[in-house]
Amino acid sequence: MVTAGPTYEDLDPVRFIGNRSSGRMGFAVAAAAAEAGAKVSLVSGPVGLATPAGVERRDVRSAIEMRDAVMQLVTGADLFFGVAAVADYRPQQAAGQKLKKGPPRQNLELVANPDIIAEVAALEDGPLTIGFAAETEQVEAHAREKLSVKGLDMIAANRVGREGSGFESEHNEILLLWAGGEKHLGRGSKHQLARLLVSAAADRLNEREAIETGSDQDPRPAPGH
Ligand code: CTP
Repeated sequence: MVTAGPTYEDLDPVRFIGNRSSGRMGFAVAAAAAEAGAKVSLVSGPVGLATPAGVERRDVRSAIEMRDAVMQLVTGADLFFGVAAVADYRPQQAAGQKLKKGPPRQNLELVANPDIIAEVAALEDGPLTIGFAAETEQVEAHAREKLSVKGLDMIAANRVGREGSGFESEHNEILLLWAGGEKHLGRGSKHQLARLLVSAAADRLNEREAIETGSDQDPRPAPGH
C-alpha cells in the first residue's frame, strides 16, 4: 500500500492549505511495487498524474479522508509506504461560504491532523512501514527522529526545498535508514530510486518473516557433521 501527493485542507469552498508535493515519488513507488509483482493500493491526494499500470487507486483530498481510506484498505497489507506529504494541521473549521475580506490582520485557527503512518505502524500485525522524511536541513538527524517517534521500520530521508531534488523535481536523492543500519540509495530518477527502495523493503520483509517463522536458522548440519 502506498500514499502519495499532498493533502488539501479546505478553508472555504474556494481556498485551501496545500503543499508542493507533486505525487511523483509516491506514484513511482506504486509503479515499482506493481512491476515487482505486488498487488498495490495507492491512496492519492490531489495530483495530475496517470495511475500506474496494475495499481488500484483511491483519490482523496484531505488528511482525514486519506486516513480513513488507508484504514479501510490496509488490512492484510505486507508493506506500507507513506510517501504522501500529509498536512500536519487543518483549519479548525471549513467555512460553508467563501470567506470575505475583513480587517488587515486575520488569525487562522489550526488543529492537528492524525499522523497516518504512525497509526499504521501502531497496528497489531500491521505491515512493515516505510516513511519518507522531507527535510530542508539536518536531514539524517530529523529522519532518525521520525523513524523512532513514529515507530517505523524504515525511513527514506530526502532533502527538499532546493533545485534538482525533492518535491517538484523528476530526480531525488535518498538515504534509507532503519534501527541499526543505513543504505545510501544515491541520486537518480524517482523511478530508479523507487525500484531500489521497493527491493530494499522487500528484503527487510523477507528477513522479518524468516525471523518470525524461525526459518532463518539453517536446518542443514554444519560442514563436517
Ligand atoms: N505522515 C503521515 N501523517 C501525517 C504527517 C506525516 O502519515 N499527518 C507521514 C508522511 O507520509 C511521511 C512521514 O510521515 O512518511 C514523515 O512526513 P514529514 O512531512 O517529513 O514529517 P512530519 O511528521 O510532518 O514532521 P515535520 O513536518 O515536523 O517535518
